[in-house]
Amino acid sequence: MGVMANFVVNVLPYITFIVFVVGVIYRIAVWWSRPSPIPIPVFPGQRTVGSAIVRVLSDVIFFRSLLQFRGNRILWLGAWVFHISFGLILLRHLRYFLGAEAVPGWVAAVQGIGIAAALVISIPLLYLLLRRIVHADIKWISTPADYFVLLLILSVVLSGLYAKYVARPFVVDVKYVIRSLMALKPVDLSTVTLNTAFLVHFFLVQVLAMYIPFSKVMHLGGIFFSPTRTHHFGGEAHTKQLEEA
Ligand code: HEM
Repeated sequence: MGVMANFVVNVLPYITFIVFVVGVIYRIAVWWSRPSPIPIPVFPGQRTVGSAIVRVLSDVIFFRSLLQFRGNRILWLGAWVFHISFGLILLRHLRYFLGAEAVPGWVAAVQGIGIAAALVISIPLLYLLLRRIVHADIKWISTPADYFVLLLILSVVLSGLYAKYVARPFVVDVKYVIRSLMALKPVDLSTVTLNTAFLVHFFLVQVLAMYIPFSKVMHLGGIFFSPTRTHHFGGEAHTKQLEEA
């Protein structure tokens, strides 16, 4: 295998890891340090800390905000199916990371549903992409970054499906590579049988991971720092605070 393969397998993963971790920590530090002196929950708002927590969790788990204020049910369904499928695909991939001898039982148990998610995820992805192209008003507010991230995720999914159903890399060697990387041991590529499809998939995954901290995908963390969701009304004290501000 050539220099490029060696770079993708033995060098880039560490660069990816550092960029991802430092990028995520940086983004969280910026949110953390932003002053938000006045409680600004959106009407009707949450009245206690407990209800603020329930509000954030219901947004995270059920995407409640997509259904409110003239919510679009198809957008809600597309976004929800996409996120659940993405999570299930990641869970299925844990078989490359966990278990020196055999994968843990619960990882083995999610393999089937992980494949189902892999087959389904392209549908909501194409919907999320097409609505930006077809609807004039959404196209108007879309930036190149909005298209880029969707196309990048789509290319990761399609290259994965191609690897699974057409090129069929030797997954035992894939696991060996991942576990060697985790143990900080370089892989001698002449001893493993990795094919180009796997290398392309692995490369695209790493591009995605490096891009995440600097992209809108970070809304996953940002939602926990969103003042309109995390703040709660403090009754009269709150009204007074607003009047004084
Ligand atoms: C370290 C990260 C990753 C590695 C080493 C990896 C490796 C692989 C390999 C070897 C396959 C082929 C499986 C087979 O032949 O049975 C595959 C399939 C696939 N990968 Fe990845 N992948 C990674 C991350 C991701 C991510 C982040 C996604 C996100 C969407 C993804 C999506 C897919 C899909 C949709 C398939 C096809 C279905 C399946 O076998 O699960 N992969 N991946």
